[in-house]
Amino acid sequence: MDRRKFLQSTAALASVSLVGNSMIAHGQGALDKDSDAYWKTIMDQYKVTDEFINLNAGHWGIMSQPVMEAFFNHTRFINAYSSQYMGSGRAANPNARSFYAERAEILEMLAKKLGVNSDELVFTRNVTESLQLLISGYNKLKPGDTVLYSDAAYYSMKAEMRHLKVHRKAKVVQLKVPDPATYENQIAVFEQGIKDNPGTKLLLITHMSNHTGVIIPVKEITAMARSHGVDVIVDAAHSWGQYDFDFADMNLDFVGFNLHKWIGAPLGVGLIYIRKDRMLDIDTKSSKGPPGNVDINNRVQTGTMNMAAVMSVKDALNFVDDIGIKHIDRRFKALRHEWVKEFLDDDRVDILSPEDERMHAGLTSFRIKAHKDTRELGKTLLRDYHINTAPIPNINAIRVSPGLYSSKADMAVLGVAIKDIMNKM
Ligand SMILES: Cc1ncc(COP(=O)(O)O)c(C=O)c1O
Repeated sequence: MDRRKFLQSTAALASVSLVGNSMIAHGQGALDKDSDAYWKTIMDQYKVTDEFINLNAGHWGIMSQPVMEAFFNHTRFINAYSSQYMGSGRAANPNARSFYAERAEILEMLAKKLGVNSDELVFTRNVTESLQLLISGYNKLKPGDTVLYSDAAYYSMKAEMRHLKVHRKAKVVQLKVPDPATYENQIAVFEQGIKDNPGTKLLLITHMSNHTGVIIPVKEITAMARSHGVDVIVDAAHSWGQYDFDFADMNLDFVGFNLHKWIGAPLGVGLIYIRKDRMLDIDTKSSKGPPGNVDINNRVQTGTMNMAAVMSVKDALNFVDDIGIKHIDRRFKALRHEWVKEFLDDDRVDILSPEDERMHAGLTSFRIKAHKDTRELGKTLLRDYHINTAPIPNINAIRVSPGLYSSKADMAVLGVAIKDIMNKM
């Protein structure tokens, strides 16, 4: 059965209307940006396969059609202009386009959106690169100092923290985050960790867990850590672009982002934020001059990047801005609610992000308590119900992450599928 047919038959089963899929697009400007009719006009700007419902936008966000077209155009331009665009053209002709000038404009856009200065931002190729540079480059550790992170951290960031034992002779401690998560217990676990380990100098936290979708109180945790003399590095892989928060108000020092998940840029663009007055605390790369300079660009050495992808960040930001982050935030919460509501009173299922509005967005995981093989469950969802999710075996959970191209009907189909699987067990 193809995806559309399956969707229709299963949605009928779920008694949900496919109004979003059949409605004729209205003039977008006249529509309430929180209405399904408006979101139909956004969904129409994505080309997704009909073979399955993709609920794994957390792996990476696919580009909208306008962003993809822009990316192709930038690629064509770069292919035609080659290194002339990298500087020699501008040197000979002040009116020639220049990658460095355009990149600076995009960094200004990003800085404005985050409420920071553009000389506090530098592009990388993904958040892994951003965080590896921040963790391994953090130079305030003395042998014997303690570094903390939790089991909710991303696997490669945990490895980078563990490597500080070799690299900086640090004592490395992994904390266990409480489950279920509450606003208070997420602060308390890190505070207790710092108190239990008086030599702590550095803490790694993950703004939104890729395992569960739990959003932790980054602002409060950072302020608490700072009051104990502890620096914090933040993994913001999933938060920016998925929910509405005031970055400047969080008052952070070191943050890694990517722009190819929830900002919708092409694959291969990440970002580092280092607060200006903390620049010297992150090492420069050996190829970028001696230590002691405060240029953020000297803390990254990627070699040649995918310039067309970087140029497309502008188009992706414009796409997000046209919708507005507060509407994206509400949309993702509504998509999550569409399937989570089916299980709030069902004790066969655990929903792993809390109902507290401050602690979830769209991405949320679930566990069928009696089902002990998550990989098999993920396979069943894809093979029998045409729904692509992300199994997270170490917590026996399935991660569900809708994209801007997802409909409420898609989410309702997931609800029906989960119930169907449980009924057959
Ligand atoms: C919390 C978290 N950190 C880091 C990453 C790595 O992202 P990237 O592939 O952009 O390096 C991911 C990817 O899913 C993630 O979920």
